[in-house]
Amino acid sequence: MKTFYIETFGCQMNAHDSEKVVGTLLERGYSQVDEPAGAELILYNTCSIRDKAEQKVFNRLQSFKKEAGKGKIFGVLGCVAQQEGEKIFERAPHVSLVAGSASYTRLPELLVQLESGNRRVTGLSLDTNETFDTPYTRRDNPHRAYITIIEGCDKACAYCVVPFTRGPERSRTRESVLREAESLAELGYSEIQLLGQNVNSYRDPSDAGFDFAKLLSAVGNVPGMRRVRFTTSHPRDFVKEIIDAIDEQPELCNHVHLPVQSGSTAVLERMQRQYTRDDYMRRIEWMKKANRDIAITTDIIVGFPGETEKDFEETVRLIEEVEYDAMFIFKYSKRPNTPALAYQDHIPEEEKTRRFLILQERQRAIQLRRNAKYVGTTEEVHIEGYNLATGQWIGRTSQNKTLNFTDPELPAPKDGETLVGRYAQVLVTRAGPNSLAGERAA
Ligand code: 5AD
Ligand code: SF4
Repeated sequence: MKTFYIETFGCQMNAHDSEKVVGTLLERGYSQVDEPAGAELILYNTCSIRDKAEQKVFNRLQSFKKEAGKGKIFGVLGCVAQQEGEKIFERAPHVSLVAGSASYTRLPELLVQLESGNRRVTGLSLDTNETFDTPYTRRDNPHRAYITIIEGCDKACAYCVVPFTRGPERSRTRESVLREAESLAELGYSEIQLLGQNVNSYRDPSDAGFDFAKLLSAVGNVPGMRRVRFTTSHPRDFVKEIIDAIDEQPELCNHVHLPVQSGSTAVLERMQRQYTRDDYMRRIEWMKKANRDIAITTDIIVGFPGETEKDFEETVRLIEEVEYDAMFIFKYSKRPNTPALAYQDHIPEEEKTRRFLILQERQRAIQLRRNAKYVGTTEEVHIEGYNLATGQWIGRTSQNKTLNFTDPELPAPKDGETLVGRYAQVLVTRAGPNSLAGERAA
């Protein structure tokens, strides 16, 4: 029996890719182990979105250098693999497999090469129109599942490696997406997250009129489906029909993650984002005017080359105006191949940190304010777990907020009595900046 260990870095696309890679390996007769020590094949599914993420894999490989040659095989998958390619063999000579996500359809073939003793196996072509559809996905969570609807990215944001690491945009047919959603519903999954680097540019390759908003509704209509989420969105391709669909269909979660990156039109232009601050705010207005209370979250980059104090202040103003429910803030990080590398006026690290901290503090106050509005309301949660330390069940609202709650009738999970995967109505009694707390309603 061949054994493997896999560690995954990066975004949900990577997490889901790993689920497919694991399924493919199990299908080939491998068994998965939890520690690299016990594995013959050690895989890292890597992320290169920022420099720190990229360093992680080389640190890992370094720590295992001595193990090489003792019957262990190392593989680097994902975005660092695609970005660095065969250079990885020079930097870490004990690596035998280097493959980017656009080559995973070839994984069975690459494994055969590895198994027959080939010590330099690569899958690095980005010239593909295929998506990694596999019946062997091994899902980590029995209640909530990912479905990839579109892979790759055709945008050219000046800071971003993804177009270089994940290849050109390619959508799956609606037939194959819906078939997967239906079979997941049959297996008992009630929550689905549709994934893509830019889900909004989804088009059924066999029917160009069938766009993302239509797919979203169709997945929501799959019998048994109770919650449908999606990530991630590009504002340029985000159309009003998506909000209309959410408004009409309770199965579609009332949460939209819409990365703005900056509140300054001048910076957005240098980022090659293809929208202005006003374009973005128009989309926010659609959401604020919707009948449902749609939670809005975002990503922001501080310290993009040339970002002036005035530009930064516009970002601060924008977050106060939108009142986001949650936000990921990143300090700009130089990435290979990207247009922004050649820009002048790079911002000093201390200044990036200063801007980061200002945003973080402002956002904390906004979240506290936003969350306080839910005190006294009853929210439906999907139950995700139980926290022994606090004696609370862990739930998630449709808006993607964590709502921890107590249940007088079920103080702790007993054998066979776990509520995980079920839904409950919870009365919100307290609000913090990052979560809500409450009590199960009768
Ligand atoms: N530097 C900092 N943040 C980045 N992101 C993408 N590329 C970079 C970079 N070079 C952020 C963006 C994106 C999120 C996933 O990561 O905000 O939305
Ligand atoms: Fe990281 Fe981006 Fe690759 Fe996801 S797509 S793993 S965030 S570099």
